[in-house]
Amino acid sequence: MVEFMLPKDARPTKGKTHPAPVGATNLRTFKIYRFDPDTGENPRIDTFQVDIDTCGPMVLDALVKIKDEMDSTLTFRRSCREGVCGSCAFNIDGTNTIACTKPIASISGDIKVYPLPHMPVIKDLVPDLSVPYAQYASIEPWLKSDTPPPTTAERLQSTDERAELDGMWECILCFCCQTSCPSYWWNGDRYLGPAILLQAYRWIADSRDEAAGERLDNVDDPFRLYRCHTIMNCTNTCPKSLNPGKAIAEIKTLLIKRR
Ligand code: SF4
Ligand code: SF4
Ligand code: FES
Repeated sequence: MVEFMLPKDARPTKGKTHPAPVGATNLRTFKIYRFDPDTGENPRIDTFQVDIDTCGPMVLDALVKIKDEMDSTLTFRRSCREGVCGSCAFNIDGTNTIACTKPIASISGDIKVYPLPHMPVIKDLVPDLSVPYAQYASIEPWLKSDTPPPTTAERLQSTDERAELDGMWECILCFCCQTSCPSYWWNGDRYLGPAILLQAYRWIADSRDEAAGERLDNVDDPFRLYRCHTIMNCTNTCPKSLNPGKAIAEIKTLLIKRR
């Protein structure tokens, strides 16, 4: 975990305003959370007026434009700009989602961009994800099998077996669900959270994997699994329209069946 953390009682104050270039007529206002640990100052909300006529259609396009043309110190993660890497997850207009697939036109009024909630902030829009990544490693997200693979082919699945993984393989580990979950906010050090439990079930449900019992043992814990209270914020916020709440319910059902 990084050492420079946002003080827990620090509330953002009004920051700087960056006006649009002279002559721009089609403007949208972005209110963006800023925090620089090197200054020792509280976080602030900066205002950027963006010329939409010279900007791509997505919120990520505006963030890139702001960084390129208005304030090069603005710090955020992004990579694919195709909704597949999961790195551009922020709280946008009050909802956790990925910026590269969020149209600016879908938001009315000022566009507020904050880091994913309830996580320590490293800088600006970059949260410290070392805890959820350690939790991801703890579920051992790789195929486990004592049976050697066939010598002439891959490990095969039937169409139905493969279909069991639909709704899980698409997860891009953006952690929008994880950081929308009240149980994770309060018990994030011990509760695995919806993204990690969806990934755990992805391997439990894989017909080629032979470690389902061990995987169920690994999550069968009052905190690691049973802090989920079926609030369903996770499913409501997933930008890939996945259902981590259902995956958690499937794990609980398997645990009941084997008792
Ligand atoms: S169903 Fe609710 S408690 Fe369970 S992981 Fe999702 S948001 Fe959290
Ligand atoms: S389940 Fe959805 S919201 Fe959660 S990490 Fe995966 S893609 Fe992101
Ligand atoms: S940049 Fe990869 S998901 Fe948005």
